[in-house]
Amino acid sequence: MGRLWAEYGIKATFLETAIEVKDVVKIFNGNFRALNGISLKVDSGRIFALLGPNGAGKTTLMRILTTQINPSSGNAYVFGLDTVREGSQVRKLISYVPQEMSVWTDISGYENLLIYSKIYGIPREERGAIINDVLESMGLYDFSDKLVKTYSGGMVRRLEIACALLIRPKILFLDEPTIGLDPSARKVVWEKLKMFKKDYGTTIFFNTHYMDEAEIYSDLIAIINKGKIVTIGTSEELKHSVGGEILHFILEENGLNEDVLRELEKVDGIKDVMVSNSDATLVVDDAETILPYIMTFFNKKNILVKRVSITRPTLDDVFLKYAGTRIDASGRLSEVTQVRRMMRRG
Ligand SMILES: Nc1ncnc2c1ncn2[C@@H]1O[C@H](COP(=O)(O)OP(=O)(O)OP(=O)(O)O)[C@@H](O)[C@H]1O
Ligand SMILES: [Mg+2]
Repeated sequence: MGRLWAEYGIKATFLETAIEVKDVVKIFNGNFRALNGISLKVDSGRIFALLGPNGAGKTTLMRILTTQINPSSGNAYVFGLDTVREGSQVRKLISYVPQEMSVWTDISGYENLLIYSKIYGIPREERGAIINDVLESMGLYDFSDKLVKTYSGGMVRRLEIACALLIRPKILFLDEPTIGLDPSARKVVWEKLKMFKKDYGTTIFFNTHYMDEAEIYSDLIAIINKGKIVTIGTSEELKHSVGGEILHFILEENGLNEDVLRELEKVDGIKDVMVSNSDATLVVDDAETILPYIMTFFNKKNILVKRVSITRPTLDDVFLKYAGTRIDASGRLSEVTQVRRMMRRG
């Protein structure tokens, strides 16, 4: 008789697929492609970040996954259930915190939770205990009787998340969970979320335009730009894919013309050159070795270097590499027109 794997001490781990998106296209107004062929997969129990600038299509994808709108073509699945054909079953497994405010400010935190628990059909006798649990999870227990208009921005966000946790979702969708919050308030939101996730194994799918939020809090990041996923991986994988080190120069205006760039591209040890008017980002094999050479080169061309920095690749560099632009702090694409040049050398 054959022996079971377990008898050999072999543990098999099967990761369930929480979310699968296949070739999703969303067309608005007959011809505008807000999503242009999106595919991705998220394993159960993971924290997934969809990172991209304003208008990239983040909310549109989340609205499809949460069954609010249908894709124009392609399919989206939540725990194997089709978001269009099996929408009502999907809705039983998920919660959603929208980008916009979703609580009432002229009543207390507790009263908000009571209203939501009625909407969700939580039996009367269970409401009190569940509400206290989610208040505790989001660190709001002591403030539950206060009017929401007296809450800080971070507390309001945590109350909105608490409302979403009332049904103990298998997947929690958060659209820009910490938009507009200061760093310490953002940190508290995520500490509470991570603790909840640990206790309940919830999968978290969140949208953000903050690079650092994606980097610090997610297990997997997909970068979206103009309705397309430009790259996907862990933050380490993404940064590694840029390779080498980053030399960032701030130059006097208009120093870099086509001829200078062409020469620069030929230099051994430079893997990528990305420039805007007065800003040059070079991906190099070894910054310290090549820096004196590049400084001499700029000097000969009468290009004045105002400032130079050496860094390891950041997600900002990843975005620049794959999308050809930068995201600024407010989530807009950087205004400067990037003349982007690339070459591959080993
Ligand atoms: N209902 C709609 N009708 C027409 N166009 C829409 C609609 N919803 C979204 N769009 C457009 O689709 C594009 C993607 O919008 P979406 O809201 O998904 O972007 P986003 O990545 O969430 O941006 P933000 O960071 O500003 O929230 C935008 O150009 C937007 O104007
Ligand atoms: Mg949005």
